[in-house]
Amino acid sequence: MENKKILVLPGDGIGEDVMDAGMKVLESTGFTADYIWGDIGWKFWCTEGNALPDRTVKLLKETDCCLFGAITSKPKEEAQIELIPELKGRGFDYQSPIVKLRQMFNLHTNLRPCKAYPGNPLNYRDDINIVVFRENTEDLYSGVEFHPLPKEVYDVLTKYNSKMGRFGANPMDEIALSCRIVTKKASQNIVRQAFEYATKKGYKTVTIVEKPNVIRETSGLILREARKVAQDYPDIQLWETNIDAQCMWLVKNPQDYGIIVSSNMFGDILSDLAAQLVGGLGFSPSGNIGDNYAVFEPTHGSAPKYTGQYKVNPIAMILTIKLMLDWLGEGELADRIENAVATVIKEGIVRTYDMGGTNGTMQMADAVIEKL
Ligand code: NAI
Ligand code: MG
Repeated sequence: MENKKILVLPGDGIGEDVMDAGMKVLESTGFTADYIWGDIGWKFWCTEGNALPDRTVKLLKETDCCLFGAITSKPKEEAQIELIPELKGRGFDYQSPIVKLRQMFNLHTNLRPCKAYPGNPLNYRDDINIVVFRENTEDLYSGVEFHPLPKEVYDVLTKYNSKMGRFGANPMDEIALSCRIVTKKASQNIVRQAFEYATKKGYKTVTIVEKPNVIRETSGLILREARKVAQDYPDIQLWETNIDAQCMWLVKNPQDYGIIVSSNMFGDILSDLAAQLVGGLGFSPSGNIGDNYAVFEPTHGSAPKYTGQYKVNPIAMILTIKLMLDWLGEGELADRIENAVATVIKEGIVRTYDMGGTNGTMQMADAVIEKL
């Protein structure tokens, strides 16, 4: 069999630290693949005006999947200031490369397992095992945004929906508008992915989290589609909750929830909340999964203040590699990695700073390797 081609994109900041650790673990499993290293992130924005260079897009198209570290993103004004002088004022606009590649490759499903490994001093409880399915391409992340609001847009909205009228008292440059756009297709898909996963892994419930009582059209559509999809899975219950209440319940009874599915923005919030219940960003892996391609990344960002210190916890990255191996059909290797991580956590001898320990990134990686 031909080797799989894996694109490795460490990105910025601690993306590089955790990638070093993760790759060491991956190579220690004996898994053979062709690793191709590529460029992404803030440094390429500053020097090329593009955080996702075309050569990287080409590599994404030529590989089977991608392992990604983290990137730095900064607000609009700072992005302009940090461009090299030659590029300033030439109309370059910063766009998050990770949001861009999710949309460019239609990586419609964001999968975020949040599992408590017994012995982790950061666990809220030891019996939490939640997987969040977050729609990954639409909703408030569609990028259809306006500021100032063009008068034509205001007029059209007022024509079709009288509720817009009351905003007309404000000057157009004092109104910002971000569109929440959802489609039937993407809504059905994310719910189906959640039910398929629940079936495969033996979960008894899927909880759809929205806010249809207030956000009637978008959340309403998502919920209707979820109910239709659920009919194909009579053995699994569909629980319906509202985003605000769900945040309370996740703190009150997190052990009651299995699979949670939501739209992009709510899913983002829920997955960070769920991640913190099982140890926080140092323990939270994710996959951005499409029909034919997937990008795997720890949930955390580039944590600039720890860059290059090899201090942060690589477990999120190591569990990300586990997810990638699962997706590549290497379930046995994936389980070996997860069991090794679980053993290291349970023993509690090697701990990074976030766990109250003094060990570094590579010491944690070595401890996992020893248990493989
Ligand atoms: P962050 O996730 O980079 O870090 C927040 C804090 O969490 C850190 O200061 C650290 O205390 C802790 N932390 C993060 N990863 C850890 C690990 N592996 N082990 C132990 N502790 C860890 O989020 P922040 O500070 O909000 O953002 C920093 C930069 O990262 C920003 O430029 C932001 O835009 C970017 N970012 C990128 C993401 C991505 O690449 N997908 C996701 C989130 C933020
Ligand atoms: Mg987030």
